[in-house]
Amino acid sequence: MEISLEGKVALVTGAGPNIGSGIALALAAYGAKVAVNDVSLKTAETCRDRLQGHGHEAMALQGDVTSEEEVVANVDAVLERYGKIDILVNNAALLGGKGLLDEDADTFAKHVLVSGLGNFLFTKHVARSMAEREIRGSIVCVSSSHGWSCSPGVIAYCFSKGGVNNFVRAAAMDLAPYGIRVNGYTPTAPVPDNPDLIAERASQGVAPLLSGRGGLGGGGGDEPWRRPTRYQGERPPMVPMGTTGTPTDIGHCIAWICSDYARLITGCDFVVDGGARAKNFSYHPAPADGLMGPLPIVPLH
Ligand SMILES: NC(=O)c1ccc[n+]([C@@H]2O[C@H](COP(=O)([O-])OP(=O)(O)OC[C@H]3O[C@@H](n4cnc5c(N)ncnc54)[C@H](O)[C@@H]3O)[C@@H](O)[C@H]2O)c1
Repeated sequence: MEISLEGKVALVTGAGPNIGSGIALALAAYGAKVAVNDVSLKTAETCRDRLQGHGHEAMALQGDVTSEEEVVANVDAVLERYGKIDILVNNAALLGGKGLLDEDADTFAKHVLVSGLGNFLFTKHVARSMAEREIRGSIVCVSSSHGWSCSPGVIAYCFSKGGVNNFVRAAAMDLAPYGIRVNGYTPTAPVPDNPDLIAERASQGVAPLLSGRGGLGGGGGDEPWRRPTRYQGERPPMVPMGTTGTPTDIGHCIAWICSDYARLITGCDFVVDGGARAKNFSYHPAPADGLMGPLPIVPLH
């Protein structure tokens, strides 16, 4: 039995070159026609071009997920071109930020709007299009490990991703009568595998994984009363299987959630992280070079 999304139409928001583009490529590689949204037209077009470069059907949409007018225009454009939407992935978010002592109200509000209103508006209008056409579709909301546990320096991000987790359960209840499923996917700092993104970061002299050794989170000020927020010494290995994977791993998982095999899975959260979230706080796994390691990745074409 092969997983196939043949005949389905997908819409992915926030099609940046890392996770959004990886999810979009996976859905296309499994057979879906894919529309990709981003607030930046260039970003959406770059993602569309990546999918088309692999021989897949794709379209690019510019739209701010916090504007109802633009969300409706994006949904209508996909309906006009492909006739329906079977799959929605709410991936757009603002990353980074500052901690409680330093964050400003505007930035806090923007994070909450993009995650909160963005998930709500796209889910509402795509779900209405599904219900009208009796499409028993699948909606996936992208959360974060910071939606379940926290680091210092990202108060708005942690707040908004925690909200995404309960939005999934509430939306799953509202849409269950229509046969529409809503699930969460929790990325855990995957290692980028988009060749264009890796090349771009190399040309800037930065590591592919931006969050670094101390994890995600902005710094604070240098007032004498400040306390350290991070351990500065040698960090022990953190992931039981040695790696939290790549956007391709995320894409395989989301493609399966959106396939007919998952017909009764709703209101759940999925994670592909080599055991990182299951780990007890006191356990330090063995170094990656001593482990058997996971099976080889199944590449996307
Ligand atoms: N990268 C990680 O390590 C990581 C870890 C956990 C969770 N996540 C989550 O995965 C998702 C993708 O992360 P990424 O690393 O690829 O981030 P990214 O910043 O590369 O991509 C996010 C995209 O969303 C777009 N966007 C932002 N605001 C928008 C708006 N108002 N309307 C439309 N588009 C908008 C941005 O332009 C960007 O292209 C996010 O939801 C993020 O929170 C990422």
